[in-house]
Amino acid sequence: MPAVLLLNGPNLNLLGSREPEIYGSTTLTDIEAQVSSALRERKIECEVFQSNSEGELIDWLHKQRDADFLLLNPGAFTHTSVGLRDAVLAIEIPFLEIHLSNVHQREEFRHHSYFSDIAIGSLVGLGVKGYLLATQFAADYLEQKALSASND
Ligand code: DQA
Repeated sequence: MPAVLLLNGPNLNLLGSREPEIYGSTTLTDIEAQVSSALRERKIECEVFQSNSEGELIDWLHKQRDADFLLLNPGAFTHTSVGLRDAVLAIEIPFLEIHLSNVHQREEFRHHSYFSDIAIGSLVGLGVKGYLLATQFAADYLEQKALSASND
């Protein structure tokens, strides 16, 4: 069974109570449950992880290198972490970058991402829906890949 990773960076464990006017009222547990359930329906496994520590995020990714797709919200590390970027490049898993808020409408320092140029695409400003649309994209992408492999 193919596997999709859902990885969330610092402070996203506080979703639901953290600046709800920016990030909404849905908790991370809810998002993880919705993504996992949508993937299960498409017969795809889902592994979820969140950490506030750069090293833990990188170590977790290293252990998941056999996975097929990554849904990534790097949180504040989006704008700072060459280390996390290098880890994503090292494991060579196609990925989508997700941000609940529209980072381009916010402070200048949020306009640059260390991930956008290496992601298949980015979903910004769509709230929880961004995670769900990214999930559908990942499932379609993996289905298409399996079809192409079976036609080879
Ligand atoms: C975020 C945007 C980042 O700038 C911020 O540091 C976050 C959340 C988002 O989902 O909108 O922690 O990634």
